[in-house]
Amino acid sequence: MKLIRIINLIIIISFFAFPSRAQAPYEKLTYNYPYKDGIPFSRYKDRRQKIVEFMSPKSFAIVLSPDYYTQIKEFYRQNIFNSNLFYFTGLPEQEAVLLLIPGNYKYNGIKCNDMIFLEDQSKKDIIWNGLKVNLYEAEGMYGISKALYLSRLDEIIDELMLLRDTLFLADFPLTQTEGVLPSENPDIKLEIINKLKAKYPRLIVKLGIPGLKSMREVKDEDEIKLIKRAVEISVSGFREAMKAAKPGIKEYELKAIAEYSFNRLGAECPGYPSVVNGGKNAVFIHGAYSRDLIPDGSLVIMDCGARFNGYTADITRTFPINGEFSKEQKKIYNIVLEAQDSAFSACTKENSFMTPHVKALSVIQRGLLELGIISNANDARDYFTHATSHYLGIDVHDPGTFGNLKPGNVITVEPGIYIPEGSPCDSKWWNICIRIEDDVLITQGEPVILTKDLPRKPGDIEDLIGK
Ligand code: GLY
Ligand code: MN
Ligand code: MN
Repeated sequence: MKLIRIINLIIIISFFAFPSRAQAPYEKLTYNYPYKDGIPFSRYKDRRQKIVEFMSPKSFAIVLSPDYYTQIKEFYRQNIFNSNLFYFTGLPEQEAVLLLIPGNYKYNGIKCNDMIFLEDQSKKDIIWNGLKVNLYEAEGMYGISKALYLSRLDEIIDELMLLRDTLFLADFPLTQTEGVLPSENPDIKLEIINKLKAKYPRLIVKLGIPGLKSMREVKDEDEIKLIKRAVEISVSGFREAMKAAKPGIKEYELKAIAEYSFNRLGAECPGYPSVVNGGKNAVFIHGAYSRDLIPDGSLVIMDCGARFNGYTADITRTFPINGEFSKEQKKIYNIVLEAQDSAFSACTKENSFMTPHVKALSVIQRGLLELGIISNANDARDYFTHATSHYLGIDVHDPGTFGNLKPGNVITVEPGIYIPEGSPCDSKWWNICIRIEDDVLITQGEPVILTKDLPRKPGDIEDLIGK
C-alpha cells in the first residue's frame, strides 16, 4: 500500500513539475509540403531570378497571396484566384507576400533579390490548421534569400522606397474570371494602390510585372508533365462518370463519380468548380448547381478537371444520358466536332492565338446556316457565345499574352453551340447544348491533343456509355 502511495505521489509531482509536457509534441512537428511530386524548388528560384532580371533596378514588385488584403477566406485556393505567388514559390499557404527586388538590395549584409513575408503562426493556429512553413524552412527549402514575419513588411517597403520609384503589383487574373469567382473584386487592387499612393506620393504603381505573362504562357517540361498527369487523371474520372450515365441519374451523382476518381488517383481537388449540367441546365456555361435529375433523352455537359500538384486539366464532354444521340442532337454535335477539328488544325506555332477561334466560328456559322437555325452568319454568336481557347496551367484560365501561339503553350479548344428553349428556330433544336473541350500542347510541329484518350466522336461516346 505504501509503495502505491509513493508511486501516486511521484506521478502527481511529475505532472506539476513538467506542466508543458502535453504541448511538447507540437513543438517537434515539422512542415509537411503537400506538392511532393510538383515542380522542383530550384525551378521556382529560376523563375524569380529571371523576372527580376527583366525589371528596372529602380523598381520592385509585390506578389500577394490571394486574400492577404481581402480577408475573404471562403473558396480559398492559392492557385485559382491569384496564382503568381504560387508560380514564383510553390508555397501553398495563405498570408504571404513575396517581394521581388532587382539590383543589389541587401538585408543584414545578405543580397536579396527575393524576400518572403510570412505569418507568425500561433500555437492555436498550428493545432487547428496544421503547420505552415516557418522562416527557416522558407529560406532553406524554398531557397528564398530572406524570410521575415509579415509584421516587418512595411518597414522593408519603407527602406526600399529610399531608392526606388516604381512598384509592380502582380495582377490578379481578372480578365477571364471576372464575375465567376467571388473574391476577384477589382476594388481590392484599388485599395492597395490607394494606400501605397497616400504613403508614397511619388511612387509609380504599375499593375502586372513586365515579362510575367510571356513567361507563364510557355510551360516548361515539369509543368507539361504535371498537366499531362492532371489530364490522365481527369480522363479516368470522365470515363467512370460516362459509364455510369443512365436515365434517372442526378447531375450531382455524375459529378461525385468524376471527383471521386480524381481524388483516388491523387488529385488534390478539382481545378475549378465542376460543371455537370443536364437538359435545360446545359445552356449555362459555368452555372454549376448540379442538383437536378438529368431527363431521359437529354444531353449532359460535363466540364471538369482534376488538379495535380498545382496544375489543372480542363475537359468538357457532352453526352446523351441514355447512351444514344438523337438525330438532331447528332447533327449539332457533328458541327461542334468539325469546328473543333478545324480549330485543332490551327493550333500551330506562329498562328495568332485567335486563329483556332476564327476557324471554329466559321464552321459553326456554316453549320447553323445549313440547318436553317440562322439565316445570317453573324447570328451564330447568339448560339456560340464564348471564346474557343484560353491558356491552361496553374489556373484553369492561365495568364498569357494572347499574341502568337508558341511551342510550350497549353491551350484549350472548346467550341460550343447552345440552343435554349424559345430560340428563334425550329423547336426540334431547342435544348440541344453541346460543348467539346480538349487540352492542346503547341509544339514545333503538329499540336499534341493531350486529352485524346477520351472519346469525343458520337459513336465512341455511345460505345463508352453502353446501353
Ligand atoms: N472550365 C472552364 C472553362 O472551360 O473555361
Ligand atoms: Mn476551358
Ligand atoms: Mn472547361
